[in-house]
Amino acid sequence: MGNAFLQMLWTLVLAVLLSTSSGEDATLLKEERGTMDGSVSQHYANLGAPQVILFCPISGNTSAAQWFLNGKAVPEAARKDGSLILRNVTLAQSGEYSCRDSEAGLPLRRIHLKLGYPPEKPDVRCWSASYPAASCNWALPTETHLPTVFFSTYRHGLEGQEYECILSVAEANFCSIPNIQMFTIDPYVLNVTAANPLGSATRLFPIFLEQILKPDPPEAVTVSPIRGEKKKLLLEWKPPLSWRFPEYFPLKYTIRYWREGSHGRKSIRPTEQTSFVLTGIRSGATYYVQVAAKDFLDNGEYSAWSSPASGTAWSDGS
Ligand SMILES: *[C@@H]1O[C@H](CO)[C@@H](O)[C@H](O)[C@H]1NC(C)=O
Ligand SMILES: *[C@@H]1O[C@H](CO)[C@@H](O)[C@H](O)[C@H]1NC(C)=O
Ligand SMILES: *[C@@H]1O[C@H](CO)[C@@H](O)[C@H](O)[C@H]1NC(C)=O
Repeated sequence: MGNAFLQMLWTLVLAVLLSTSSGEDATLLKEERGTMDGSVSQHYANLGAPQVILFCPISGNTSAAQWFLNGKAVPEAARKDGSLILRNVTLAQSGEYSCRDSEAGLPLRRIHLKLGYPPEKPDVRCWSASYPAASCNWALPTETHLPTVFFSTYRHGLEGQEYECILSVAEANFCSIPNIQMFTIDPYVLNVTAANPLGSATRLFPIFLEQILKPDPPEAVTVSPIRGEKKKLLLEWKPPLSWRFPEYFPLKYTIRYWREGSHGRKSIRPTEQTSFVLTGIRSGATYYVQVAAKDFLDNGEYSAWSSPASGTAWSDGS
């Protein structure tokens, strides 16, 4: 009973002592609380930097400063003023550094050291699956190891008004331009700027719609027998749905086909129609057909091949 009372009394006395401790102790306690409530300062540095200096806010005997990385004592000794120098830093040296006053047994500062590179100019690629829109994506040539954000804008010519190139929500490295004038002398210029805590880099990329045009593959390709025709096949397809104005900007199509089991592929010269009758077909054999599309005026590139469709010519039995 007496012991329990004494214990309670001591707890009270200690609490009063702590709350009225001297100014310096109060600062240290505040620092400690600062480190304990999770406030960690961020420090960014270049990988391979010849030296990175981390300061320790130690007062009094500075040779009592001790440094830890992720809770383990660092091999480097603290300098006279308590700071830590890291040389030729590598990724393994990133992490949470803390400085302690070993005499007072107090944590003084926590620093999250993040190492990486400033971004390089992004590599940009643009394409258009239909007049008059374009899409672009980009990638960084080297990994930065740091969170990097992108800004994408474009303008028509050097003096034109600046517009936002609309980023899709899902990907931070893809944007689209809804409306590009064709056959213009001044190019559209896309500005893709990459930025992270160590720096930023801008790529200016000229866009000529006529050059980057590449339709999506034709759709709904079918291969059908023609009644009474043992050596012919009817091929039909549709322009890609993404090609928005086939009536104003027609497409031309090229076809390739092969007989099942044979390696040779034959192709048909371009046509503007969306159907074609293949002749010289071997009866009973299965034929595979693919179609690709290109702008009728020959701007840009051919689409990728459509997925193959197959069929067999009409026979007496069918
Ligand atoms: C300062 O701290 C170091 C390391 O803890 C100790 O060896 C040294 O005696 C201290 N100096 C004074 C003046 O307290
Ligand atoms: C750091 O790199 C420089 C240049 O490559 C070299 O001369 C130096 O010895 C290196 N220092 C350490 C501590 O590795
Ligand atoms: C490119 O974009 C960045 C970020 O939006 C901007 O700071 C920079 O001035 C632009 N550069 C040009 C040449 O438009």
